[in-house]
Amino acid sequence: MKKKYNIAVVGATGAVGQMMIKILLEKKFPFNEIFLLASKKSNGKKINILGNQFTVQSLDEFDFKKVDIAMFSAGADISKKYAQVAVKNNAIVIDNTSFFRYEENIPLIVPEVNGDDIIKYKETGIISNPNCSTIQMLVAIKPIHDVSKIKRINVCTYQAVSGSGNLAIEELKNQVTDFVNSEKLKINVYPKQIAFNVIPQIDMFMENGYTKEEMKMVWETKKILDNKIEVNPTTVRVPVFYGHSEAIHLELEKRIEASKVKDILKSYGNGIVLVDEHINGGYPCAANECEDSNNVFVGRIREDISCSAGINMWVVSNNIRKGAAYNSVQIAELLINNYL
Ligand code: A2P
Repeated sequence: MKKKYNIAVVGATGAVGQMMIKILLEKKFPFNEIFLLASKKSNGKKINILGNQFTVQSLDEFDFKKVDIAMFSAGADISKKYAQVAVKNNAIVIDNTSFFRYEENIPLIVPEVNGDDIIKYKETGIISNPNCSTIQMLVAIKPIHDVSKIKRINVCTYQAVSGSGNLAIEELKNQVTDFVNSEKLKINVYPKQIAFNVIPQIDMFMENGYTKEEMKMVWETKKILDNKIEVNPTTVRVPVFYGHSEAIHLELEKRIEASKVKDILKSYGNGIVLVDEHINGGYPCAANECEDSNNVFVGRIREDISCSAGINMWVVSNNIRKGAAYNSVQIAELLINNYL
């Protein structure tokens, strides 16, 4: 293990990129230098994060030879074009986009679930960070799967706009203001207005009628946790800034009582926080629990009254932190602690 590492953050002006830098600082990641990379238009821009001043550089002209680990979060097209450039210059890539996720020889890692798979990075120099909705679901259900195998998951998501980046955050703010002022709403990022609305489409439609976000949950659950698990997802965008919520219904091989599930999750620790009381407000909510937290919050645990070995739960987590930036930094920590 080297003492200190040079890190590049690609997409450093974006919602996830900014959070990556914040978490590297919060976790006191052993870095020499963090290089902030973005498009040409951001070249020279000064950014202050937790009292540290950084200058953004243009990705086009950057020399990856200076870097040990490159964390990409600037969209799939940028990963397609530049991830291999970083690898050729001996940087290890942690990619937050979906571009490499489904390639067999590229590990797709949630450290609490399949951290050991990271060793496969040696084949390609690339590690993929999963989709935000998949990460929080798998963290919450892994300890249950360890006790009684999950056969099938029905999941409906309620996803925050920050998952679509800074432009989407602005779009929700602007639409709320325009709505209150009785002005015409401007619609650019989403297919319909997101203010005071609920949109049952995330990412593009696939041939089977599911959206790509939904199929990501199917493919990634199988790749990360267990290929035998069947997943039936509906993913929905809601007018929330930060924090995805998920109503998850599990069909298990053997029945476990709800109280036992609560005990399993409570004693598991490892990033899971149980908020489950049968009182008003005794459950996690995006705007309350997620703000500065890297945890996955679980509540509303109940036995499914319509099937013999079913468990229902409500899972909430900050999509920009555990769903993206924090998970990527955890991967970087696994790397330096075990392989570099
Ligand atoms: P920039 O601000 O210079 O456009 P978000 O997901 O929040 O929308 O952020 C997207 C990130 O990807 C931003 O940091 C953005 O930088 C970066 N990005 C977009 N296009 C490019 C590009 N062609 N080269 C490098 N970075 C890019």
